[in-house]
Amino acid sequence: MKKAKIAVLVSGGGTNLQALIDYEKKGLLKSGEISLVISNKKEAYALTRAENNGIPTSVVLKKELGSQEAFEEKIMDLIDDNGIDIIVLAGFMSILSEKFTTHYPKRIINVHPALIPSFCGKGFYGLKVHEAALAYGVKVTGATVHFVNEVPDGGEIIAQKAVYIKEDDTPETLQKRVMEEAEWIILPESVEKVCSKIVSEK
Ligand code: GAR
Repeated sequence: MKKAKIAVLVSGGGTNLQALIDYEKKGLLKSGEISLVISNKKEAYALTRAENNGIPTSVVLKKELGSQEAFEEKIMDLIDDNGIDIIVLAGFMSILSEKFTTHYPKRIINVHPALIPSFCGKGFYGLKVHEAALAYGVKVTGATVHFVNEVPDGGEIIAQKAVYIKEDDTPETLQKRVMEEAEWIILPESVEKVCSKIVSEK
């Protein structure tokens, strides 16, 4: 059976990319293959993770291209030239415009480190999300995988997993537990689920 080609967009450490690579290595990614990693940061450790696993990489810098439009066009060219079927945002810290998201309906998925609709939308990314959850005093948080549309963190939810907050949690300890107990589990599972749907429709 033909597999769906996956592009993973990253900006940082790439632990979610690593979870996806490990899932593929275990033979669990039955319907998809990680075919390309695109970073908007030159120094992202995610690039090293991809290189260590023989996955082609590309760096696209907004500053060099001059505008959001040119930045997105460059990414679209890479996606289209490589015959990519699904785009996974795994710690990609740049909001994509409506022009981009509407070009790939139900073909872009994102992992967010909270239970949407809490602590999400513009300005909620990375550690800030966990700082906000602790400041509010919620007792349960978690992670969400969702389709990406024109509303930041507003697309249809694919999967969620809850994580309990501990009395002595700091943003850093909470971020680590949300990754380990939720993100690294539901992201690969959701990617497989969406890929399987894509290949069955091909
Ligand atoms: C992850 O916690 C991811 O959910 C979050 O950034 C981290 C990236 O870590 N993404 C967002 O906040 C997007 N709004 P990683 O580079 O190690 O996967």
